[in-house]
Amino acid sequence: MLDLLKNIENTFRESLDSITDEAALEAWRLANLGRNSPLMKAFSELGRLSTVERPAAGQMANQVKQALEAAFAEKAGQLKASAMAKSLQQEKLDVTLPGRPFRRGRLHPATANLRRMLAILAEMGFQVYTARDIETDEMNFQLLNFPPYHPAREMQDSFYVEAGERGDNPVLLRTHTSPGQIRAMREYAALDPENPPSIRVALPGMCYRFEQITARSEVQFYQIEGLAVGENITFSDLKGTLVEFARRMFGQDVRYRFRADHFPFTEPSAELDIECYVCGGKGCPVCKQSGWLEILGSGMVHPTVLANGGYDPQRYTGFAFGMGPERQLMLRYKINDIRNFWANDIRFLEQF
Ligand code: DAH
Repeated sequence: MLDLLKNIENTFRESLDSITDEAALEAWRLANLGRNSPLMKAFSELGRLSTVERPAAGQMANQVKQALEAAFAEKAGQLKASAMAKSLQQEKLDVTLPGRPFRRGRLHPATANLRRMLAILAEMGFQVYTARDIETDEMNFQLLNFPPYHPAREMQDSFYVEAGERGDNPVLLRTHTSPGQIRAMREYAALDPENPPSIRVALPGMCYRFEQITARSEVQFYQIEGLAVGENITFSDLKGTLVEFARRMFGQDVRYRFRADHFPFTEPSAELDIECYVCGGKGCPVCKQSGWLEILGSGMVHPTVLANGGYDPQRYTGFAFGMGPERQLMLRYKINDIRNFWANDIRFLEQF
């Protein structure tokens, strides 16, 4: 028995020294300290020894076991330390390195300008009302005083969505935000048909026209429509509101003029021009030598349109206006090609 224990003690170190990973160490532990190891078998055989031999053998078995356990613990500690050193080396992290710049997204310039215009209108009491992009011919044209086959439709060539038979009322992509006037009036009027409430809404949205795409015309563009309806609204309310808008948008001392125009859904109608900021009104290519830049169309809501919206034109009046965020941005930043807006060239978009 003593020889056996001596032998175990003499050989275990060698086998331990060659171990370099935790799996091998565990195998070593099972072989040398496990239930079926020679050492453990020696323990179970102690009982069969004579009382003379037993104390010395027992003492020695315990010493050998302690030696094995201590060596095992030491080896386990070494392996752990070297694994830690290795991972520290491999995963070295220099916390003093500068961070990678985080590229933030931003709003598209047309969207940003749309919001700016809506914010100005909101300050002036206009609440945002969103209508739909897909409209019927009736909403987009007929109820706004464009009868079928009326030449005024020529101004707004349309994308028709539905090829099917809908007679005089096909579905189309809205060519302007003006049909939102009818939708807003009808919704407000439904609240109290006998005494419809007054309205002040701003209707933003994308519009679509079947156009040849050129530097001056696109097939899609934003518009913001404004609508005010109530009792005793006059043309001077229209002028005051739009002049105040132009001042907040283009500067307090902006020079402007109203010019008579025609739209089927307003009577009278007017366009608002601001003085050309490029030439200061002297005349240049941007303003086509006129000295003025058109920024919006407007007018007093036509009585027929009021009636179509559920407002009695004997009692109510109103004004409306329509303007283009891209167009106003082009004027402000001297952008000479409208195609830049929806071409998605990052070099253009990043300038804003
Ligand atoms: N809907 C017109 C267009 O797209 C713009 C417009 C003009 C809107 C006059 C209005 C208005 O509300 O009063 O050309």
